[in-house]
Amino acid sequence: MECLRLGPEFFTDPHADYSWIREQRPTSRVITPQGNEVWLVTRYADARAALADPALHKDNAEFHALAEARYGPIPRHEIKNEINSHMLAADPPDHTRLRKLVGKAFTARAIAALRPRIEEIAASLLDEMEAGPDRVDLLDAYAFPLPITVICELLGVSMGDRDDFRAWSNTLLQSADREAHTAAASSIAAYLTALVDERRAHPTDDMLGAIVAASAESDRLSRNEAISMAFLLLIAGHETTVNLIGTGTYALLRDPAQFAALRSDPALVPNAIEEFLRWDGPVHLATLRFTASPTVIGGVRIPAGEVVLVSLTSANRDPERWPDAETLDVRRPATSHLAFGHGIHHCLGAPLARLEGEVAFTALLSRFPALALDADPSTLTWRPSTLIRGLDRLPVRLR
Ligand code: HEM
Repeated sequence: MECLRLGPEFFTDPHADYSWIREQRPTSRVITPQGNEVWLVTRYADARAALADPALHKDNAEFHALAEARYGPIPRHEIKNEINSHMLAADPPDHTRLRKLVGKAFTARAIAALRPRIEEIAASLLDEMEAGPDRVDLLDAYAFPLPITVICELLGVSMGDRDDFRAWSNTLLQSADREAHTAAASSIAAYLTALVDERRAHPTDDMLGAIVAASAESDRLSRNEAISMAFLLLIAGHETTVNLIGTGTYALLRDPAQFAALRSDPALVPNAIEEFLRWDGPVHLATLRFTASPTVIGGVRIPAGEVVLVSLTSANRDPERWPDAETLDVRRPATSHLAFGHGIHHCLGAPLARLEGEVAFTALLSRFPALALDADPSTLTWRPSTLIRGLDRLPVRLR
């Protein structure tokens, strides 16, 4: 069967392509807009099974060896090893060891204790917006600074150079230019290495301090693993919740009935968060796995050493799983969506992201009940990434 080629329109509206792909080629080989040949899994049931399938691995080094056996020598990427030795690129037992190290800090109970501080951060951002002009980019003014301030405080990182980190992180996730990609990876690696070395010299009792202390006892955590842990948590803090707040707000502003329902009954917010995640969640194809042995997914046999991307965006709109899947309904019971993944890599930060979302929407809607879109929706662009899904900007009028 000919390989399906996904064009740049896939960034703007993947949903249109997915209704055809799910129907005609639910698990098939595709060429991504960046030119990579991968296997794409699009149906809910197959996606859920694949995410929990122990035959699908994550470890880079193992994948590299398999790929070299098939295609010949492939250059190694030293910088990437420095920041990629984290739990999301590891299999058991390494995955288990790495996740356990920070797991306690992310339980629902530990996260619930952060509520007052998250409310304070949201309120102070809203104060600034209230004192400023009526027209703002909601991503810059609110959706981005809120989660980034929270994760930096949680880690114990002051991050004065936040804009640099945001630019590097954007390049890493969406640039197809190899040189720009490598430059961004080395800048992040250098930044985080300095941070970790500084903590080694001057220990602290925050989360980064605990990670660095564990790396001082090298049987628990290597130096690269400490740097990579900070990388993963900061990237997750930069690239995900911003889009839960951004895309969720955009959906409400385009749907007055849903907006009115939520404004009149704020108790619906936690449920609405689940529906925003289902309807157009922040993680699209950032679910990289590879087949360690020949594997059957959705009745299709995939050989060993192939890259498999599970489309959370598609699974969450599969009409076989969700009645009226394309429609946003803030009252829908949607908790079994796959926006946070499934299986052993299920999002560690899910309780934090849910709490941030709940606080962010509750505070925003009560402060600016007349919030309105300040752009023709056809002029809004989506980030040119297949990994992450989110708007480039979200112009709004506050009053
Ligand atoms: C893993 C989504 C926020 C930390 C994941 C995965 C998904 C995901 C889909 C699994 C990917 C896979 O299986 O390949 C999201 C979404 C978020 C969010 C939609 C916001 C709405 C966060 C936050 C943090 C975080 C705020 C913490 C700061 C992590 C970590 C992993 C992970 C550490 C790796 C878990 C593992 O490998 O065991 N996330 N995430 N995430 N997420 Fe999140």
